[in-house]
Amino acid sequence: MNVALESLEQHWLPFTNNREFKREPRLFVRASGMHYWSQTGQKILDGSSGLFTTAAGHCRPEIAKAVGEQLGTLDFTPSFMRGHPGAFALANAVARLTPKDLNRVFFCNSGSEAVDTAIKIAFAYHLARKEGQRTYLVSRERAYHGVNMGGTALSGMVKNREAFGAVMPGVLHLRHTLLPENRLSRGMGARGVELADDLQRFVQLVGEKRIAAVFVEPIAGSTGVLVPPRGYLERIREICDRYGILLVFDEVICGFGRTGAPFAAESFGVTPDLITMAKALTNGAQPMGAVAVREGIYQTIVDGAPDGATEFFHGYTYSAHPAACAAGLATLKIYETEGLFARGRELSPYFQDAMFGLQDLPAVADVRGFGMLAGVEVKPGTAPGARGAELQAKLFDRGLHVKTTGDVAIIAPAFIASKEDIDEIAAILREAIAAY
Ligand SMILES: Cc1ncc(COP(=O)(O)O)c(C=O)c1O
Repeated sequence: MNVALESLEQHWLPFTNNREFKREPRLFVRASGMHYWSQTGQKILDGSSGLFTTAAGHCRPEIAKAVGEQLGTLDFTPSFMRGHPGAFALANAVARLTPKDLNRVFFCNSGSEAVDTAIKIAFAYHLARKEGQRTYLVSRERAYHGVNMGGTALSGMVKNREAFGAVMPGVLHLRHTLLPENRLSRGMGARGVELADDLQRFVQLVGEKRIAAVFVEPIAGSTGVLVPPRGYLERIREICDRYGILLVFDEVICGFGRTGAPFAAESFGVTPDLITMAKALTNGAQPMGAVAVREGIYQTIVDGAPDGATEFFHGYTYSAHPAACAAGLATLKIYETEGLFARGRELSPYFQDAMFGLQDLPAVADVRGFGMLAGVEVKPGTAPGARGAELQAKLFDRGLHVKTTGDVAIIAPAFIASKEDIDEIAAILREAIAAY
């Protein structure tokens, strides 16, 4: 399929160098399994599951069928004061995967909306328990929590903040955990547990009952795969418990098997109070996000409202959209019947070997990874990020789609990947990086 160049002007692409893209467009026109096809007919191996979305591989007919049937039966239900069976079924299916009592599920349409929803749940919860003075939020340097105003305020990536003013007051950032001492550590680094004590210092700075919630990605994904140091998440949990602070795991990338378990909370053995999720919830086939919360949080907010009143003044027209719920149900069924989380877990040592095998290349600055997620960082070129952007284009031209952030290639294959697919990802990366 050929696309006329002038027809590309109207669409303003997100997080993209639009001028370059429009000079040299890279479009996908078709996908299947582990592959995309470009507009020029080139077959491209998908090294990042789309955008960490497509864990079960592309164009799964089961999902397409479920969405088609849903749209033919019930295309839309008002999300306020009305419901449809798929929403309840999906909430139940998600609750079966979440750890412990994180059983109440609020639906939205993206990871960004999940994060902003979680912020509001945290504030509403504390207000309901008469601690509305908890107005501070804590996140981390180098965090990515989406692009809505709350998530932008939590963000720890300078480019995602600097054009947008002060965004939202009252957000404190823990130091990030990317330590040179942990360079080339496979899995969790041995150093850096004490970085969690920043949270204790914030408590001392603003007061014992002033922080509402701490947001962390168990593995900071978009910023280049920052695996937490050993003991770090446990210590954050302990400090949260000590001061009544809610702990939110943003599992928009980590959720649904990426770390070898349904959620990273389970892989790392730390249970948060809320989990935000999106992406692989529907295998990327429909936009959808969700927040899972502990039973007690839901109950506190609901019980805190007067009889007959709406309890939580938040929601989206498309919360629990029937087509998204159908996609989610079909996706979770595929994960279960094909045992895909276990498959990813079993494949991950092979995958990590392949990624860490690139460390001999002189241009490789670091390799980090856990489960089916890895970051290969190249030494910067003329400016930070320049080489990463160039690498991403070179990989595409060699037949590999990989998401890059700055100078880090973020590799996250679908769990249906074969060992040959992993070998091919590694070979194309090697060939492209060896040129530096
Ligand atoms: C941890 C995390 N939170 C939130 C988001 C935002 O998700 P979305 O792009 O669906 O709004 C992302 C996206 O990559 C993410 O990685």
